Amino acid sequence: MAINLNNLTLDPPVFLAPMAGVTDKPSRDIAKLFSPGLVVSEMIVSSDNGKSSFEKVVRANLLGSKHGTAKCPTAVQIAGHEIQWMSYAAKVIEFEGGELIDVNMGCPAKKIVGKLAGSALMKEPTHALNMIESIVNATNLPVTLKMRLGWDTENMNAPKIAKSAENIGVQMITIHARTRNQFFKGKAIWESVKAVKDTVSIPVIVNGDIISNESGKSAIKESFADGIMVGRGAIGRPWCISELAESLYNYRPKKKSNSLLMSELVNLHFAKTLDFYGNENGLRIFRKHLAKYLKNLVISPSCRYSLVTDDSVKALERKIKFLFDNRKVNMTYDQCR
Ligand SMILES: Cc1cc2nc3c(=O)[nH]c(=O)nc-3n(C[C@H](O)[C@H](O)[C@H](O)COP(=O)(O)O)c2cc1C
Repeated sequence: MAINLNNLTLDPPVFLAPMAGVTDKPSRDIAKLFSPGLVVSEMIVSSDNGKSSFEKVVRANLLGSKHGTAKCPTAVQIAGHEIQWMSYAAKVIEFEGGELIDVNMGCPAKKIVGKLAGSALMKEPTHALNMIESIVNATNLPVTLKMRLGWDTENMNAPKIAKSAENIGVQMITIHARTRNQFFKGKAIWESVKAVKDTVSIPVIVNGDIISNESGKSAIKESFADGIMVGRGAIGRPWCISELAESLYNYRPKKKSNSLLMSELVNLHFAKTLDFYGNENGLRIFRKHLAKYLKNLVISPSCRYSLVTDDSVKALERKIKFLFDNRKVNMTYDQCR
């Protein structure tokens, strides 16, 4: 069940997906309370950063990551096109104490694809593989790859790329089971991940539209993957990670993760966000998480609006406590109590 990469053990094989603007350090720390086997940072785009600012971003991302409440490796994800930059990035991540490097070959956004990075690399597999090989050679850390099924339905080249990536030393592959041209539309095609699984011997992780124990089970059954990665399903519902781990892999953390009430969890996420970004930015950034947490409650639109626009930290903390302690949550929350 556990996945071993060099001397890292990823257990359970239920991972938190990288999500730019979402899986920042505070959110990953919150997710770690629910015992994922791996969390992945937001992508760090090589060309957006000068060298010193890249180093700063990596350092901030890794701060304290080995000493959290739960032992769970953090992968730092990099997105880029230039061989030199990407291998430099790998060296920085290792130097700063990173544990694992994930290469982004799946981002469909125009601003990334326009730089020939993310899923654009699937159209240029020779260059992509040269770049990945240089990353593997630049570091002793395990290098993993996250990609889509292909650029479009005519070019589903994930199995071929995966095989070549395995041959040059990539240790695990995650497939977001859509093509680039699907962006986030339609349904993830989990059964297409099986073609990758059939081609390589390294672990394959299925990703896309896993939002419940049922969808997790179907994704594994159809893809034969070695594990799952959850993205949007965990925003505002981080406990779905431990629910999936128990339901799919009968995994129970050795140490019961916590005894937090939902109000305490939401306020802990708020406090960590303020701590990381400072009060002004932290409050603004936390609003999108709060909006997702609020989806667990039955409340009026005006109440929701007043919460996500409140600009007093103290008042918002009090409101969170009142609302989440007194309202009925519409899903099981046993593992968090
Ligand atoms: C807001 C957002 C940001 C994302 N940022 C990244 C990213 O930085 N790197 C990456 O590889 N994928 C990124 N993704 C894709 C997710 O990791 C995941 O592959 C996709 O959302 C499908 O999984 P899901 O249905 O579980 O969300 C992002 C997705 C979302 C919704």
